[in-house]
Amino acid sequence: MTTGASLYDILRPKLREATKAAHHRIDHHPLMAPLVRGELTASLYGDALLALYCFHAPSERAFAAFLSDLDSVPPCRSEWLAADLESLGRTEIAASDIGPFWSGQPPSSPSEYIGMRYVIEGGSLGGRAILAPLIERLPSECKHITRFFDGQQDERDWLNFWTLADRLGPLDADETVRAAVRFFDEIEQMADRRWQESLTTASPATN
Ligand code: HEM
Repeated sequence: MTTGASLYDILRPKLREATKAAHHRIDHHPLMAPLVRGELTASLYGDALLALYCFHAPSERAFAAFLSDLDSVPPCRSEWLAADLESLGRTEIAASDIGPFWSGQPPSSPSEYIGMRYVIEGGSLGGRAILAPLIERLPSECKHITRFFDGQQDERDWLNFWTLADRLGPLDADETVRAAVRFFDEIEQMADRRWQESLTTASPATN
């Protein structure tokens, strides 16, 4: 069991190491990669934001169902994503037509909860790191549509998350790591399904 001051020092490196390969795959995924490399059009930006929405919104509900007190619930990042998508003129959320979304295993213990929240809160650290280059690369008409990435600017969320992990401890490190790896895998599978569907939709009809 891992608890107290050792949590951040011991558990965070374990989580980072165990999810390193999965992180590399997701940040090179064709839906996410345009955020940092290659061409970035309004349409590609919207596709990436919608993919992010499709695991943030349902996982925020799963987190709130597990722990609902105000000190525990994560920031409502899915609302920021929805606002950006609306500003981009994307209608999928309003039309309830968001395509494949995360519907994986919700957390069933504090260790699983922290493992899964790590994926989201760590992702938010990544969001902070890419905001400035992202604004540089966005087409001029989209440069102001960064509510989601702007919202990641406050390091308090990351610190609050580790305080919460301390509060919920002692945690089973192996169970925490397994939950983080599983959540990353489920997100990757969802992104793959979205990507495959977009290729099918984009293909010219053959007959
Ligand atoms: C283009 C997409 C992405 C890029 C360029 C990116 C980049 C980064 C960077 C630069 C960091 C380090 C931030 C820091 O230490 O200050 C980071 C951390 C992290 N990112 Fe991403 N990220 C991307 C997408 C994602 C996604 C979609 C997820 C979740 C599904 C994710 C999960 C994480 C996690 C868990 C960490 C924390 C690792 C640690 O413990 O240090 N990232 N990311």
